[in-house]
Amino acid sequence: MKILNLIGYWLLGFFEEQSDEKMYPVISHSPEETWGLASKLAIVLSKGDLINLSGDLGAGKTVFTKGLAAGLGIIEPVTSPTFTIIKEYGEGRLPLYHFDVYRLFSPDELEELGFDEYFYGDGLTVIEWGDKVEELLPDIRLDVKILRLVDDNFRRIEISPYGDAWQEKFEKWRPGE
Ligand SMILES: Nc1ncnc2c1ncn2[C@@H]1O[C@H](COP(=O)(O)OP(=O)(O)OP(=O)(O)O)[C@@H](O)[C@H]1O
Ligand SMILES: [Mg+2]
Repeated sequence: MKILNLIGYWLLGFFEEQSDEKMYPVISHSPEETWGLASKLAIVLSKGDLINLSGDLGAGKTVFTKGLAAGLGIIEPVTSPTFTIIKEYGEGRLPLYHFDVYRLFSPDELEELGFDEYFYGDGLTVIEWGDKVEELLPDIRLDVKILRLVDDNFRRIEISPYGDAWQEKFEKWRPGE
């Protein structure tokens, strides 16, 4: 039995090393806390970064984006671009490209909008419901999944940095500490 356990642990370790994807869960207790978490993240962001927001309907993706915008120094109020798909804010430390792809019928529509000029452009791209167009997203990105909990003000925020650069940014950000 002992030897089987040892082999099991070795295999687990092997697979953990193989995948560079780690998920860090953080609990938010209020909209202000989610907003604050995002505004602190904005400090470590740079040109060409992409954040994919997913999770429950009404969970706080737009609240998170508002925090990011504030952290970048954007004063103009951020509203959900549900019908326009994209809204651009130019006044901050980095341009913010805010997408909401909830209403897209297919990823082709995003291609028509010339999405890669934004994703690989000079600013920060934030996509609400980005999982819907996952095939078009770059592999190097930050996934933030926001889930509602039984208490109406509580959220579980699952953060997955993909790629070394995002891992480093995540460590500088240190959410939940
Ligand atoms: N801990 C929390 N974090 C974020 N929002 C919270 C929290 N607790 C309550 N809320 C409320 O949840 C709502 C989140 O709305 P928001 O528009 O940000 O969600 P969304 O995920 O963007 O929705 P949609 O799926 O329609 O795009 C707000 O009314 C906010 O006040
Ligand atoms: Mg929204």
